Amino acid sequence: MRQDVKVSEIALVTGADRGLGRAITEQLLERGWTVLAGQVLDWPELAELQARFGDRLHVLPLDVGSDASVLAAASSAAQLVGRVDMVVNNAGINRSAHIDSVRDNLSFDDMQAEHNINAVGPMRVTRAFLPLMAGSDRKLLCFVSSEAGSIEASRRTGWFGYCMSKAAVNMAVKNLYNDLSCEGFRFRLFQPGWMKTYMRGTRNDEAALEPEESARRALSYFLEEPEPPTLALHTWDGEDMPW
Ligand SMILES: NC(=O)c1ccc[n+]([C@@H]2O[C@H](COP(=O)([O-])OP(=O)(O)OC[C@H]3O[C@@H](n4cnc5c(N)ncnc54)[C@H](OP(=O)(O)O)[C@@H]3O)[C@@H](O)[C@H]2O)c1
Repeated sequence: MRQDVKVSEIALVTGADRGLGRAITEQLLERGWTVLAGQVLDWPELAELQARFGDRLHVLPLDVGSDASVLAAASSAAQLVGRVDMVVNNAGINRSAHIDSVRDNLSFDDMQAEHNINAVGPMRVTRAFLPLMAGSDRKLLCFVSSEAGSIEASRRTGWFGYCMSKAAVNMAVKNLYNDLSCEGFRFRLFQPGWMKTYMRGTRNDEAALEPEESARRALSYFLEEPEPPTLALHTWDGEDMPW
C-alpha cells in the first residue's frame, strides 16, 4: 500500500546553540521540522541534538552581526535545502544589564554592538533569506524581542543599549510587515519572559522561566494563525503588550 510521505518544513533559527534558540530548535525537530541552526561559537549542545535527529539538523556558522557570515549562511542554506518556511530571529546580546543610569560607565562600543546584533542582525538575516522563502506556503518571519524594547511600558533608568536595540527591532518588524505582508509574508513578534539562559555569560538560575517552557509558548504562537490576523508584541504568558 502506498504511504504518503510527509514533507518536512524547514526553519532557520539564529543563536540556536544555547538558551531559547536551542530549546526552539529541539522542539521544532521533535515536531518533525528540518532545522538550519545558526551557531557562532562551538558549544556542544547542538552536537547532542545532531546525534538524536541526524540529517534533519544542519548546523550553520552564522554571526548575525556580520554581512559576510549571513550571506555565506544563506548560500549554504540554498545548497543544503533550497527553501526556508520559517525564520526565527532569536540571537541577541545584552551588555547593558549593569547600567542603571546615564551617569554610570556607559560603553558606546557595547551600545553599537547591541544595535548591530539585536536590531541590524535580524534585518541582515531577513533580507538574505527572503529569496529562499519565495517558494514557501508558510513564509513566516518570527522575531524574539523583549519587554525591554517597549517605549510605553518602560520603567527602567538604564540598560540603554539593550532597550534601544529592542525598540529598534520592533520598528524594523513594523516596517517589514508594511512592506511584505502583501506578498504573503506573516510576522510574529515575541517577548519570551525572564529566562534561565546565558545572556549574562552563565546560566541565570534566578530568572523565572525555563527556556523550554518559553520555547513551547513561542512555537504555539508562531505556528498558529492569530484570529483576527494582527501584528502585536505577544508575551510568553499569552497576552499582547504595548510596544
Ligand atoms: N533571557 C531573558 O530573560 C530574555 C528576556 C527577554 C528577551 N530575551 C531575548 O531572547 C533571545 C534569546 O536569548 P537567551 O535568553 O536565550 O540568551 P542566550 O542564552 O545568551 O542565547 C543567545 C544566543 O544568541 C547567540 N548569539 C550571540 N551573539 C550572536 C551573533 N552575533 N550572531 C548569532 N548568534 C549570536 C548566542 O551564541 P553564543 O552563546 O555562542 O554567544 C546564543 O546562542 C534574545 O534575543 C534575547 O534578547 C531574553
